[in-house]
Amino acid sequence: MVMKKRILSGMRPTGKLHIGHYVGALENWVKLQEEYESYHLIADYHVLTTNLSTDEIYNNSIEMVIDWLASGLDHLKSPIFRQSQIKEHAELFLIYSMLITTARLERNPTVKEQVRDLNIENVIYGHLGYPVLQAADILLYKGEVVPVGEDQLQHLELSCKLARKFNHRYGQFFAEIQPILSPTPRLMSLNNPEKKMSKSLGEKSYVAIRDSKDIVSQKIKKAVADKKGVENLLTLYSYFGQNKKYQQMKTDFKAGKLMNANLKDELTKVILGFLEPLQKKIATYQKNPQTVNKIITQGNQQAQKIADQNLTEIKKIVGLR
Ligand code: TRP
Repeated sequence: MVMKKRILSGMRPTGKLHIGHYVGALENWVKLQEEYESYHLIADYHVLTTNLSTDEIYNNSIEMVIDWLASGLDHLKSPIFRQSQIKEHAELFLIYSMLITTARLERNPTVKEQVRDLNIENVIYGHLGYPVLQAADILLYKGEVVPVGEDQLQHLELSCKLARKFNHRYGQFFAEIQPILSPTPRLMSLNNPEKKMSKSLGEKSYVAIRDSKDIVSQKIKKAVADKKGVENLLTLYSYFGQNKKYQQMKTDFKAGKLMNANLKDELTKVILGFLEPLQKKIATYQKNPQTVNKIITQGNQQAQKIADQNLTEIKKIVGLR
């Protein structure tokens, strides 16, 4: 029997998943769960790196899991668990923090960009180190395949490096990590088509999975429609709409005949069509919080078993028997 490779991926529960999360990662998770042994984590420790307002973390976690489930993630195939409930993440993070220089962490472009975007003046130790925690998340489960959005590639490089360093120093233990990008790894922001669709650019940047019809229409109506903006809207259409119409609109655009209002109407229609069934499922889960809790508790138990086993081995290897 061929063993399925293991997927380990996750997201921060920052509230309000948007269509960029869906297209960039979630849809891929749903597809890949058929082919791989998948585990998905709620990266709740990671939230603390940039946001210390603690009251939202738990509720956001539940909301995010509901959005995952509604998008088609099947907890029976893909256990879902909370990072903060499995102590071994913190232990492995500590061990890995001995294998990396601070200079290497300071060079991480994603962290640098975050510091810039969020206007952070003094970077905390945990923020600088969060890619190390991410490496621990993956390697604690000996994850080999990591489907993520494009913004995570720098972090995965670091995870690979840590795995190699560990292997080099202590002998072969971890397999190579392979990132998988979705066919459309990033959507651009509605209000700033030069930048990735992101919560940090404000409400008008993205369409949230839970946005109402009115909000979706408004956001698209107000989307930037200069050349770059229209290209972005067309790309969005190509993703959610019909190919034939997309080709037609693209041809019209090139010929300078495309009406922005038309494009926006069409785009609104197809995005609403995409969101409707999703939101129905969300509403059902929302009414059954116990179901969601149970799913996470089960996931925690499944993750804990693997974490126990692997960390015991790793501690032995590094001399902490
Ligand atoms: N760093 C990721 C983010 O910012 C979340 C994350 C944490 C993650 N641990 C992970 C992603 C492990 C993939 C694998 O969203």
